Amino acid sequence: MSEFWPKLTPGYPRDLPAWQALVEHVNGPIASTSMATLFSRDANRVRRFSQKAGDIYADFSKNRINTTTWRLLLALAGEANVEAWRDAMFAGEHINTSEDRAVLHTALRARPRERFRDGGQNATRAVHAVLDAMGAFVNGVHRGRIVGSKRKPFTDIVNIGIGGSDLGIVMAVKALEHHRGKRPRVHSVSNVDGTQLADLKQSLNPATTLFVICSKTFTTQETMSNAAEARRWIRRTLGDAAVQRHFAAASTNHAAMDRFGINPEYRFGFWDWVGGRYSIWSAVGLSVALAIGMKNFRELLDGGRTMDRHFRRAPLRENLPVTMALLAFWYNQFFGAETQAILPYDNRLDRFPAFLQQMQMESNGKSVRIDGAPVTVETGMVIFGEAGNNAQHSFYQLLHQGTRVIPVDFILPARSSGASRKAQRLAVANCLAQSQALMLGRSATEVRASGITDPVDIAQRVHSGNRPSTTLVFPALTPSTLGQLIALYEHKVFVEGVLCGINSFDQWGVQLGKVLAKNVEKRLANPRKTEALDASTEALLATLRKLGV
Ligand code: F6P
Repeated sequence: MSEFWPKLTPGYPRDLPAWQALVEHVNGPIASTSMATLFSRDANRVRRFSQKAGDIYADFSKNRINTTTWRLLLALAGEANVEAWRDAMFAGEHINTSEDRAVLHTALRARPRERFRDGGQNATRAVHAVLDAMGAFVNGVHRGRIVGSKRKPFTDIVNIGIGGSDLGIVMAVKALEHHRGKRPRVHSVSNVDGTQLADLKQSLNPATTLFVICSKTFTTQETMSNAAEARRWIRRTLGDAAVQRHFAAASTNHAAMDRFGINPEYRFGFWDWVGGRYSIWSAVGLSVALAIGMKNFRELLDGGRTMDRHFRRAPLRENLPVTMALLAFWYNQFFGAETQAILPYDNRLDRFPAFLQQMQMESNGKSVRIDGAPVTVETGMVIFGEAGNNAQHSFYQLLHQGTRVIPVDFILPARSSGASRKAQRLAVANCLAQSQALMLGRSATEVRASGITDPVDIAQRVHSGNRPSTTLVFPALTPSTLGQLIALYEHKVFVEGVLCGINSFDQWGVQLGKVLAKNVEKRLANPRKTEALDASTEALLATLRKLGV
């Protein structure tokens, strides 16, 4: 473990003075004071509990906090050494201790003159060399200099990858569709069952299709299986030599790209200090750049950099990622909140919650601390979400009248990314009305005043209110604001991990399933020559065999 890393106390964070004070505080009046009352007592509440970072204005006044809560949470961040951990990350310290790696996704969005180093390596210089190579490739595709084996320009890009090599791409390509113009369409293939590629093969012309294989390791079963099938299709339809013209790749594993037959000029590297779920900023973003152009892709990077500068420089009390982490921690630890809803009011952001699921849950779904001791607190909350009004007609009932505390993040661009002002007014009105309804609720008296008299009918119409939400507002969905949003949540997740005492940058919990899947597959293929598995799995295999697996 790096010497730099502040040592954790045995009961961390429970034995920090601020934790003890928060326990006393939460057992006091704050638990029973409604947000409506807190507003009525403090004319400055909105000013006090709102922040701005880059283009993002955050209203967190509709949270169950008062000035004491806020003071104690900030004290906790101080005692947890959040600033030291943050500085260690930016300095290239190996804060991913279990893999002995630096965590330098922030270097991916740095300007050339900014200094980021991994040991003796100049990370910024390496990053910009790859960005320049990506730029030449992307422009070549867009201007028809880089074409398929039949000399036809590419009309369709198929990104093959999974997890961090897929979710960010799918999310960003959809979010920025209004920046695509006449550039190629981008599709994605991730799942191991092969149906996504099977469907695409029905409609795509191989002669005008470019596959982009994204895999940090270039060994991931799902990706390699889909990539092999795509290569069979290209060989069958266009001949063996076409592979060199119809496949590009982003990976840290150059030898594996060689073996696959990736054209040396169509491959883009990155480094072990880029975590999979933080890799959209690296060569993994190639398909995004092919969709929106390199200029827009660089604006996305710049947006991330804007948030990095804020996170790095703003004092804790004005630091938006820190604030969001502290609020999540407050509800997770002190209100028993197990989930958090992410609700964007722009349909183009409808894959943003899925993207955040990996970022949050793969990062902070841990039960062992960075020093190997068991965690003493609840780790990352379960993230779920959907685009605004669609979700209103699906699970908002639970948010308004369920028994659990579910903090909400509303994400709201002011201007539409393509529809009419009238439609946008409806989206804005719905978003703000929902945050209002969650906070204010509807009392029995108010229900009665609307003319309802039956006590059962009244009881069922009461909304308890006092349900927390944060609203993030920004001018419009652009590459820059999307970059800011992504980086905001990246840093929020990191700070939450620090507060829990965990390493947010490894993911050992996904390994076991991968190993066992190989055993099950062997058993499925060859039951005579393999050892029996557990009784339940054997029974399931027998049933599936009868059903024709
Ligand atoms: O699911 C585990 C994981 O390692 C993720 O962290 C990663 O994003 C994904 O698999 C894909 O890995 P690779 O990019 O190496 O194919």
